[in-house]
Amino acid sequence: MARVVVRNLTKKFGNVTAVNRLTLDVRDGEFVVLLGPSGCGKTTTLRCIAGLEAPDEGEIYIGDKLVNELPPKDRNIAMVFQSYALYPHMKVYDNIAFPLKMRKYPKSEIDRRVREVARLLKIEELLDRKPKQLSGGQQQRVALGRALVREPDVFLMDEPLSNLDAKLRVYMRAELKRLQRELKVTTIYVTHDQVEAMTMADRIAVMNNGVLQQYAEASEIYSRPSTVFVAGFIGSPPMNFIECTLVEEQGEAYLDAGAFRYKLSEEQAKLVREKASSSELLLGVRPEHITLHLKPVEEGIKGRVYVVEPLGAELIVNVKIGESILKVKTPVHGELKVDQEVWVSFNRDRVYIFDKRTEESII
Ligand SMILES: Nc1ncnc2c1ncn2[C@@H]1O[C@H](COP(=O)(O)OP(=O)(O)OP(=O)(O)O)[C@@H](O)[C@H]1O
Ligand SMILES: [Mg+2]
Repeated sequence: MARVVVRNLTKKFGNVTAVNRLTLDVRDGEFVVLLGPSGCGKTTTLRCIAGLEAPDEGEIYIGDKLVNELPPKDRNIAMVFQSYALYPHMKVYDNIAFPLKMRKYPKSEIDRRVREVARLLKIEELLDRKPKQLSGGQQQRVALGRALVREPDVFLMDEPLSNLDAKLRVYMRAELKRLQRELKVTTIYVTHDQVEAMTMADRIAVMNNGVLQQYAEASEIYSRPSTVFVAGFIGSPPMNFIECTLVEEQGEAYLDAGAFRYKLSEEQAKLVREKASSSELLLGVRPEHITLHLKPVEEGIKGRVYVVEPLGAELIVNVKIGESILKVKTPVHGELKVDQEVWVSFNRDRVYIFDKRTEESII
């Protein structure tokens, strides 16, 4: 077991900066998820930690040891790749057993471990097959098995569940997390699936364009996103953003969105005046923090039903206010007709304000 420290890591491919001055401290035994959209540098970061890419700048420590110059095989890590490179000529059993054979484990110990991992991954009946006789999801589980069979200092996992069907993925998510807790092996896990990140991680590192946006526990990332990008990436459906301008009138401060005005509390106004780089702002509010009313209410904003998306117990109601559409998550309402007049109100404690120019959070 070991902590992993990445300091100021930069990796370029030609004129693409895949990872840009990334600093990340992963505690011993921690489960950290790298989360971000396609191309944001997740795989490159893992490959640098594994020693499969040489950083252009920065240091990587595993335990207390600087590993920049250490070849992959001496880093005592087990990696599951996004494209699961199995040995095509070996049976599943031997693929999983391979890392243990290399390390000269006794035969009986190898057999015990391979079967245990196979049971966990539900691939016991596939042990005698060759990789090309398996589906994509089965191959992925074999690749996972080959990593889990060892007891490395660090697991690096690159979207290890991406090829599984929804049900198996949910099962494996829980099993992997439980196993990691049991083994207490420091794990860095890559995904672009925010639900996977939220449910599995001790801490989430959100990346965009090679840059770390925020590194915190899931609840913190959800409730206090540091940038517009993080706020919009976490949560489903995503946060609503409304462009607005700060207006001061007779000692009161408002956000003017054109179709409506949102009055700021003393405290909100103070923060905005202190932190905003200009009067151009973004008001952010999550669909689950808006209440839908069928009659006018105090501080309610009038709009019209644009589209209703049923989710079972809940609805996503798209409400058109002026030229913008707000998504509202609400328990099922009786009848809602397209074009019907409705009113929405924001949960005041859950309203976010961002600087439109810098995209940094103000509140
Ligand atoms: N070997 C390479 N040569 C050139 N460019 C590369 C190479 N590997 C990655 N890149 C580029 O670096 C950037 C980051 O790629 P990376 O594979 O790390 O993204 P990712 O976050 O893992 O994306 P995905 O979710 O699609 O797997 C991308 O713009 C990619 O095109
Ligand atoms: Mg990738």
